Amino acid sequence: MKVAVLGRGNVGGGLADLWERAGHEVTRIGREGGDVSNVEAVVVAVPGGAIAEALDNVQGLEGKTVIDATNLANVDPPAGFSSNAEFVKSKTNGPTAKSFNINFAALYDRIGEAGSTPSNLWCGDEEARQVVEQLNRDAGSEPVYAGPLENAAAQENFLKLVFAINRGGMGRFFYRIAPPDQL
Ligand SMILES: NC(=O)c1ccc[n+]([C@@H]2O[C@H](COP(=O)([O-])OP(=O)(O)OC[C@H]3O[C@@H](n4cnc5c(N)ncnc54)[C@H](OP(=O)(O)O)[C@@H]3O)[C@@H](O)[C@H]2O)c1
Repeated sequence: MKVAVLGRGNVGGGLADLWERAGHEVTRIGREGGDVSNVEAVVVAVPGGAIAEALDNVQGLEGKTVIDATNLANVDPPAGFSSNAEFVKSKTNGPTAKSFNINFAALYDRIGEAGSTPSNLWCGDEEARQVVEQLNRDAGSEPVYAGPLENAAAQENFLKLVFAINRGGMGRFFYRIAPPDQL
C-alpha cells in the first residue's frame, strides 16, 4: 500500500519504519508539507494543536482515507469540532478513522516480545476499515473496532485513563510487553 505519514516523529517515523518492513511504500512528510495525491492512506501524527496548520500544507487530501493518530495534550480540537478526527474529515471529505493514538510509540520496536498480540483501538468510517485494519496488523497490533467516527472524542479522551492506569502500575493491562518496573 502507498501510505503518507504526516509528522516524522515517534509515531509517524516509528509507524513508517514498521510499515516499510512490512512491504508498504511510505512517504514521510514534515513541516514543509507535500502532495498525497498518489497514496491510498494518510496518517496524521503531528502534535494535536498543530493539526490545522499541518493539513493546510498538504495537497491532494480531497477524498483520501485518513487515519488520525493525534492526541490533544492540553489543547482543544479546532473550534466547532468535538475531535481532531472529525476536523480531519471536514478537510478531506473522505473515509476517516482514529487509531494509533493509544499505544505507546516507545514500544513499537518491542511488539515482537509480546506474549500475545497487543490490541489497538480504532473508530471511524466503515469505508476506512480495510485500510485501518491492515495497517494495524502490519504494525503488529490486532485492531479493535470502537464504533463510528463520532466516538473519536471519547477515544481521544481515553488517553487520560491510560496515563492514570499506567501511573497506578497497571499498564500491562493495555500493553503487556514492558517489564513491570517500566510501567
Ligand atoms: N509518542 C507516543 O507514544 C504517542 C502515542 C500515540 C499518539 N501520540 C500522538 O501522536 C502525535 C505525534 O506524537 P509524537 O510522539 O510522534 O511527536 P513528535 O515525536 O514530537 O513528532 C511530531 C512530528 O510532527 C512534526 N510537526 C510539528 N508541527 C508540524 C506541522 N505544523 N506540520 C507538519 N509536521 C509537524 C514535527 O516536526 P519537527 O520535528 O520539525 O518538530 C515532528 O516530526 C501527537 O499528537 C501525540 O499526542 C503519541
